[in-house]
Amino acid sequence: MKFLGAFFIAGALLAMPTANAQDASTQPRAAGEPPEADIGEIMVLQQMRHIKLWFAGRAGNWPLADYEIDKLKEGFADVDKLIGGDTVQREVGVHIDALQKAIEAKDREAFTRGFDGLSAGCNSCHRLLDHAFIAIQRPALQPYSNQSFAPRN
Ligand code: HEC
Repeated sequence: MKFLGAFFIAGALLAMPTANAQDASTQPRAAGEPPEADIGEIMVLQQMRHIKLWFAGRAGNWPLADYEIDKLKEGFADVDKLIGGDTVQREVGVHIDALQKAIEAKDREAFTRGFDGLSAGCNSCHRLLDHAFIAIQRPALQPYSNQSFAPRN
């Protein structure tokens, strides 16, 4: 027991400087407020996935569309962990499901509807979390000229 006690005290002492360093490096934040810096980083990736998803679906490259929707889901799962509650599910859950069905069915019209629904969900969450000025829409130009979105055989 003596040995274990010493072990725990040493552990607590070792942990202290790290805890203090973390406190100093983070902005004071009200209890329950989401850690927005991390969400912002995830969102930059979500924006890229959103663009790629659109051009994959428009090109009828369903395996690529499927891949991008999976990546979007992973990103939202991370956001979900950061903000808790059921916000993510409420804002985009139904649209992601609709898109997955459209992709499975290789249905372009349903895909387009699902995509616009998803963009509306993105914006709805931005409004809800005081970022209404970040307005998502259908992409007009394909910025990834080094990637072919055409379906592969
Ligand atoms: C659960 C709520 C939520 C959902 C759903 C959501 N966002 Fe966001 N988004 C945020 C929040 C909060 C921020 C601000 C984060 C920050 O300031 O750190 C943000 C920021 C952004 C930004 C700004 C990033 C930057 O640095 O310019 C983009 C772009 C973005 N979101 C795209 C999207 C897209 C695309 C979708 C849908 C596919 C989406 N978001 C869905 C909450 C959400």
